[in-house]
Amino acid sequence: MLGNTLKSALMISLLAFATGAVADVTFSATQDGSALNIDKAMFDTPAAKEFLATGKNPYIGNEDAIKKGKKIFNLYSCVACHGGHGEGAVGPGLIGANFRYAKNATNKGMFETIWHGTNGGMGAKGFGLMAPDDGLKPDEVLQVISFVRSNSTVKMTGNE
Ligand code: HEC
Repeated sequence: MLGNTLKSALMISLLAFATGAVADVTFSATQDGSALNIDKAMFDTPAAKEFLATGKNPYIGNEDAIKKGKKIFNLYSCVACHGGHGEGAVGPGLIGANFRYAKNATNKGMFETIWHGTNGGMGAKGFGLMAPDDGLKPDEVLQVISFVRSNSTVKMTGNE
């Protein structure tokens, strides 16, 4: 009897896994913790899909992604406010142990901040940084995060 119950429980979880019915991570705004609804269709690369399912950034330590992330960091002016290596300028440093918003120690938290900004001088609010139509896609945000973490002075990966 018990064996059967266990077997059917296992079948159900296997089925859920096979059909992709496993719950994805939910995102919340850094401003006030309210729900952040991001169209799942935007998570359109294997890395972005993995991030949506696990909250972990698969690009951490990936040299190619770090290189691309560095380009985006410059192209989207992160560099102007956060310094060339995220060490801080008019905006806060992103590579030490302490963050203004503690959630940025995790890659999910940093993703939410870059996606939707803060109330204290960090823009965004929408599709990637600042632009609702041609901003950064989730995959690119993950690349930028991999660049930021690669500069961490405390060897923080954000996937801890
Ligand atoms: C116009 C200046 C400006 C630009 C451009 C900008 N930021 Fe920021 N950013 C800020 C400021 C100011 C804060 C602090 C906001 C606050 O205290 O609410 C901040 C906060 C952050 C934080 C949270 C830091 C913490 O200590 O919690 C992260 C992460 C971040 N920015 C990443 C980025 C990335 C990545 C980019 C480029 C895609 C970017 N920012 C572009 C000004 C900027």
